Amino acid sequence: MDLSGISLDRNSGTSLHAQLVLALRAAMAEGGLRAGSRLPASRNLARSLGVNRGTVQKAYSALVAAGEARAAVGQGTFVAGTDGSAAGILPPPQTAEDPDWERLARWSARPGVISLAGGMPDARLFPVAPFRESLNAVLAKEGSGLLQYGPSRGHGRFLEVLAARLKERGLDRQAEELLVVSGSQQGLDLVARVFISPGDAVVVEDPTYSGALALFRMMGARLLPVPVDDHGMVVERLESILTRERPRLVYTIPNFHNPTGVTMSPSRRRRLLEICAANGVPVVEDDSDGELAFDDVPPPPLAAGAGNGGVIYLGTSSKLLFPGLRLGWVAADSQVIRALEAVKRVADLHTPPLLQAAMAHFMMTKACRDLVTTVRASYASRRDALLQSLEKEMPAGVTWSEPRGGLSLMVDLPAQISTADLLARAVEEGVVFAPGNLFAVRHSADHRLRLTYGGIREEEIREGMVRLGRAVRAELSGADQRRMTDKAISPPPLV
Ligand SMILES: Cc1ncc(COP(=O)(O)O)c(C=O)c1O
Repeated sequence: MDLSGISLDRNSGTSLHAQLVLALRAAMAEGGLRAGSRLPASRNLARSLGVNRGTVQKAYSALVAAGEARAAVGQGTFVAGTDGSAAGILPPPQTAEDPDWERLARWSARPGVISLAGGMPDARLFPVAPFRESLNAVLAKEGSGLLQYGPSRGHGRFLEVLAARLKERGLDRQAEELLVVSGSQQGLDLVARVFISPGDAVVVEDPTYSGALALFRMMGARLLPVPVDDHGMVVERLESILTRERPRLVYTIPNFHNPTGVTMSPSRRRRLLEICAANGVPVVEDDSDGELAFDDVPPPPLAAGAGNGGVIYLGTSSKLLFPGLRLGWVAADSQVIRALEAVKRVADLHTPPLLQAAMAHFMMTKACRDLVTTVRASYASRRDALLQSLEKEMPAGVTWSEPRGGLSLMVDLPAQISTADLLARAVEEGVVFAPGNLFAVRHSADHRLRLTYGGIREEEIREGMVRLGRAVRAELSGADQRRMTDKAISPPPLV
């Protein structure tokens, strides 16, 4: 079998193993790799591609997980048959991130461990009884209609409540410009399916939300990173990328960016909208944390400054209210909404009407207003506790961002510390964080880490930072030790 045509691009934003999966799939589709044939031994293919063996093994595992190949112990990996024996019934290929997130989840679940790794809100704040009243009220009023199939666009009352809520934030949209989705993650997935084909370029902030990276990589997109500083995406870098690469989308999180927590400055927002409009490139605004503001008024969405077109806006009830209901929304030009709706219909027909109706009811209650106040105040105190503890516990040379909302911040470590090593030590100390590489386009953020403060109490945050401070100091002194040893054994300078 001839795989000599495969070439992998180290500078592409897509990981090598994901590129290899796509190339092998293409070879299967084009007949270069026939059903039942044995894939080359991973060592041989790795050598001929000039990559390490783990990359090939990861690609093979992804194909096996997807049912596109099967592994026979001691015999190798084979292209799956077309008899349907394996193909189609197994889960989709894993992304590069999944094993890392699974490991973090396992460590986070160990007794006594303090986890600042996950971005979840605090379920202890969820008011169950008032939400049950909303469920009962809508069931009593609308009855079995809420248990029937519903419209793909969304439940009428929920759409009305959403439109009013968006209007309060400066986004005036008609019903035909809105779509209810099952979480903003589904909104992003629909956008990706409508706009991206394998090989298309997509601009993303670097770092960015790992779920967006996983999605775009899975779609075979070429990721074009633009750095983020204290004022959000460095838009000055974007113009030449737009003209040179003609990307299909620009994905941004302007408010309380995940993972850094920074908010894009007004001048950058204006410039971003200007240059994307001039180049005809749609902006996807992910505003999932936008309402989780610690100051009085949440910042306006980027879309509010964009007239009716140009920005595809994603919102969610997951951060301020309840993520388990999977209620999100998209606001965009009506043509875009129609295209997204068509894809949603084939994906899952619609989001449950009962939950939309109950949420619409709940959003109008005093219990909801009280919850919003409590949630904002609680997370603001936790953010304060984290900032104070970082100040107290971290040695010189460690810096961090200071979010005005959202659930996370980013820590920058001195260059001699690797977060991979630090994480191993931190787990021994009983604290877990998310390494920066999980949010980086090119996996080159080994001196950064993300801390989230939404799900844990202030005293846990303080104790967590005592533990992390110990781990950082131990890593720093280990690095100093290594440097001194290197010096001691290095040859004298030639003079
Ligand atoms: C930036 C960002 N976008 C989207 C999501 C997905 O949220 P959901 O699908 O629950 O709305 C998350 C969740 O953590 C997120 O942080």
